[in-house]
Amino acid sequence: MPIRLSKRMDTVAPSATKAMTARARALKAQGRDIIALTQGEPDFDTPAPIGKAGMAAIAEGRTRYTAVPGIPELRQAIADQIGRDHGLARTTDEVIVCSGAKQVIANALLATLDTDDEVIVPAPCWVTYPEVVKLAGGTPMIVDCTDSPTFKLTAEALETAITSRTRWLILNTPSNPTGAVYTARELAAFADVLREHEHVAVLTDEIYAELVYPPARFASLAAIAPDLSPRILIVGGVSKAHAMTGWRIGWGAGPADLVKAMATLQGQTTSHASSIAQYAALQAVSGDQGHLADFRATLRKRRDLLCERIGAMPGLSCRVPDGAFYVLVDCTGLLGRRTVQGTELGTDIDIAMWLLEQFDLAVVPGSSFLAPGHLRLSYAVSTDDLEHACNRLQAACDALMREAA
Ligand SMILES: Cc1ncc(COP(=O)(O)O)c(C=O)c1O
Repeated sequence: MPIRLSKRMDTVAPSATKAMTARARALKAQGRDIIALTQGEPDFDTPAPIGKAGMAAIAEGRTRYTAVPGIPELRQAIADQIGRDHGLARTTDEVIVCSGAKQVIANALLATLDTDDEVIVPAPCWVTYPEVVKLAGGTPMIVDCTDSPTFKLTAEALETAITSRTRWLILNTPSNPTGAVYTARELAAFADVLREHEHVAVLTDEIYAELVYPPARFASLAAIAPDLSPRILIVGGVSKAHAMTGWRIGWGAGPADLVKAMATLQGQTTSHASSIAQYAALQAVSGDQGHLADFRATLRKRRDLLCERIGAMPGLSCRVPDGAFYVLVDCTGLLGRRTVQGTELGTDIDIAMWLLEQFDLAVVPGSSFLAPGHLRLSYAVSTDDLEHACNRLQAACDALMREAA
């Protein structure tokens, strides 16, 4: 008899980005020269001083259990960073360190949602939000922003989406998958709406905060509306900006009661993030951060290269995103076309599969992010790979146009 799975598992879908990456890996293992623009992580190595801090933690025996919400030095360094960047005084009691930002979000939603509680998720959105809301017993209320050229939520749409059952609004800036960055003015308009609805808390996922390309500027709701900070949970981490995805360190900074509940939950599940990784993250947060400017400059060049090339491809179009390392490409111009093999490309999923199977190029279908008719391309790959990927995409578009002629 197979082991029976819980009903809970019926509601949760596996990560689509991971599924596409896995398929690309499987084809690579068969010897195919696949280029993957699927990954949500930079191709940079973790900066050496950060790695050294991790190694020092091992050498010095700092390898035992730590406090559940994290080592005090790291919580203090995170509180200090929030003080600097957001102008908000947070104490260590208001900070929890988890095994990645993903666990922060899961802890927060599991600690606060009851059946029928609603969470507003503007879409396109990161695949995990609706799934974790469902896992926690809540209902994701998707606000479709795909028609807006910037893919952003508006204050009017927020006002309309709020009901008496709304518990959270999830804001992600810069956004995965769109790269959109909310301006201070847009956030101020959200704050005006939220002031009228005291029962709504805000989870503001700022994992890509350091990856904003001027003239765009990062802005945070908590900084713009400090009066709302008792109901804001800032989610951050080292994964993306410090090239530390595998270290698994993220944090939540919010009201002490919420942080305490999240720690209670974490104490009964994973206990705490790796002690070694916490010391490495301490170096990332409080040590020299010169690498951030280098990473940003490199990513920006790749963004410009990718957007310029896409602009010249028949059937595809995109806006130049202000942050993160993704471009959400409109591929509706390719829908309904026939491939050389005679298949009709009816959806973005068909297009993504065709690109992978016929052109050895892996991208993620926009449907995975509730953005059908789009493809998400990550430019966190080497410039060489990015150029080859663009050549393949161009060849694919040209081939479709030839078929149509
Ligand atoms: C918007 C967003 N939030 C959170 C995460 C998770 O970050 P971590 O690796 O720290 O769990 C990701 C990773 O893809 C993301 O894109």
